[in-house]
Amino acid sequence: MSNRKMITAALPYANGPVHIGHLAGVYVPADVYARFQRRLGKDVAFICGTDEHGIPITIRAKKEGVTPQQIVDKYYGIIKKSFEDLGISFDEFSRTTSPTHYETSQDFFKTLYEKGKFTEEVSEQYYDEQAGEFLADRYIVGTCPSCGNDGAYGDQCEKCGSTLSPTELINPKSALSGNVPVLKETKNWYLPLNDYEDFLNQWIIEGHKDDWKSNVYGQVKSWLNDGLKPRAMTRDLNWGVPVPLPNAEGKVMYVWFDAPIGYISFTKEWAEKNGKNWKDYWQNENTDLVHFIGKDNIVFHCIIFPAMMKAHGDYIMPSNVPAFEFLNLENDKISTSRNWAVWAHEYVADFPGQQDVLRYALLSSAPETKDNNFTWKDFQTKNNSELVGIFGNFINRVAVLMHKYYNGVIPEGNASAEELAEINKAAKEIHQSLEKYEFRNALTALMNLARFGNQYLQTEEPWKNIKENPEKAAHSLFISAQIAVALGQLSEPFLPFSSEKLLNMFQVERQDWATLEEANILIPSGHQIGEATLLFSKIEDDVIDAQIQKLENTKKANKMTNPDAAAAKEEISFDDFTKIDLRVATILEAEKVEKADKLLKFKVDTGVDTRTVVSGVAEHFSPEELIGKQVMILLNLAPRKIRGIESQGMFLLTEKPDGKLTFVTPDEAVKNGVQIG
Ligand code: 2FM
Ligand code: ZN
Repeated sequence: MSNRKMITAALPYANGPVHIGHLAGVYVPADVYARFQRRLGKDVAFICGTDEHGIPITIRAKKEGVTPQQIVDKYYGIIKKSFEDLGISFDEFSRTTSPTHYETSQDFFKTLYEKGKFTEEVSEQYYDEQAGEFLADRYIVGTCPSCGNDGAYGDQCEKCGSTLSPTELINPKSALSGNVPVLKETKNWYLPLNDYEDFLNQWIIEGHKDDWKSNVYGQVKSWLNDGLKPRAMTRDLNWGVPVPLPNAEGKVMYVWFDAPIGYISFTKEWAEKNGKNWKDYWQNENTDLVHFIGKDNIVFHCIIFPAMMKAHGDYIMPSNVPAFEFLNLENDKISTSRNWAVWAHEYVADFPGQQDVLRYALLSSAPETKDNNFTWKDFQTKNNSELVGIFGNFINRVAVLMHKYYNGVIPEGNASAEELAEINKAAKEIHQSLEKYEFRNALTALMNLARFGNQYLQTEEPWKNIKENPEKAAHSLFISAQIAVALGQLSEPFLPFSSEKLLNMFQVERQDWATLEEANILIPSGHQIGEATLLFSKIEDDVIDAQIQKLENTKKANKMTNPDAAAAKEEISFDDFTKIDLRVATILEAEKVEKADKLLKFKVDTGVDTRTVVSGVAEHFSPEELIGKQVMILLNLAPRKIRGIESQGMFLLTEKPDGKLTFVTPDEAVKNGVQIG
């Protein structure tokens, strides 16, 4: 087993905040693993950063009407802060727009080019004539030829996981304009993945049958069985790392070429700051390289990136690629576009100081082998019944009793190996589970020790013995203190904030994991502990109901056929409606209001009378074009003085898609004064 661990977590696209699906399926387990390896005394580099190129970024920028650079700057900050807030202990969190990354990925590309690893191909690619752009990857959508999903992207079908080329899509459409694209010739550099089939078969199919997760192994096997094809590593786009070759104007690297190299670039950045040699982590066979990813990233981390590294020649292969399945939210697929998510930054704001509760809830339903589900009710139960009711309760009982009977000083006592066995068993079980990437089992082992602690206290009843048999009471509280401190030590990878609080409460330092696996005294007699504080607090129904309501509101908003429309107003009665007097009227006169750029003054024939109306439409119409027009007017609106002129009514107007106002008018001439309703 290697002493060096190079741990990566998939680089999130800087096109939106992170949500619980990302956290449960990549970042929390990766963090538990990294923290645990550090406790084993391993030389750990835990590296991540934002993926700032590719179509997901440019699409978001177009949607928000800003530049790609503005998008990545905004989300880099939000994502980095969320991870920090949730205790994700990256050694480095950088970005793929960093200068080191440009240099590293361009060097990598040049090496492959110079070694003759690419083929140059002129091919016909889809082109959106209206947008004037080639349609790569997510710029093009259509029906997946493998599974029939009609929302497949040009590079991948997220439903069945197949990698695709745009020309394989059935009924392709431009994601930019919705138009059917045309084919246009362009030159690109391809990596012939088929050349790496033998290598991949030998390395993964023969070499990792038993130690890789079956979901990962199975997917890789099926792609290899189907046979691999050359894949373009460059794109005709204006956002990305420029291809470092002459005659490559307007070409950038495929985002899945540059992004995984980001792991290397960011390790370099970290190494430089910390006096390390980055090559030890990437080019030394004694290093364990582990990629934490979601299942949609398997092909890139098990086939494409390894083929790139093999082609380069200097790099090690990952020793494992623990990929997670997906997490659903309240039995529905998490979706950024439908806002169906619990966003990390919103959780942190809504549940201050309760980061560990989310970590715990997500780990206990981590989608390890199949998709799993998060519900707010379940979250509440996990907090109230497990963290508060079992873990927190035990710690609190021990600390309170210690103060009550011994002024907070650990009483005289000793413990046999047998009496410490539960602690050692938990430490070993967590160790074994985490080495197999079984996070839920590891968490269960931790909680079982807390359960054991409660039972032990219940059986020993020191509160009864303290008078009749004080020695027995002292012994059982001595043992309980060992269990409490063990929980503080063992919980650190999972619940880092609470672990710190607990160890502070007992005034002990962090210990190596090995110490916990052997029968050692973890807190000695005579040791003064600090004040008893609560580790967790109950989460009340109203707090959970508010979160459920938030999701209900999202559901309502999603049912709207126009997501940009304002939300419906409060209901009114029919009587309320009949109070409104709406009529058709004809504009007789229209003129500008002096010194008011936005206002026009009208004289209108309402059928009931002739009256004056002032309206803020001067930027949308000239007075002349409105004379003689039939409009709709709210007749019984209380008169209002606008710029000294009394306005006696209000016109009905609406907005056109271009933002220009337009009058609501009858579609053929009617008599003035006709009622509307
Ligand atoms: O799927 C994603 O969100 C990608 N941005 C993951 C990239 S991982 C790596 F290879 F960079
Ligand atoms: Zn598919």
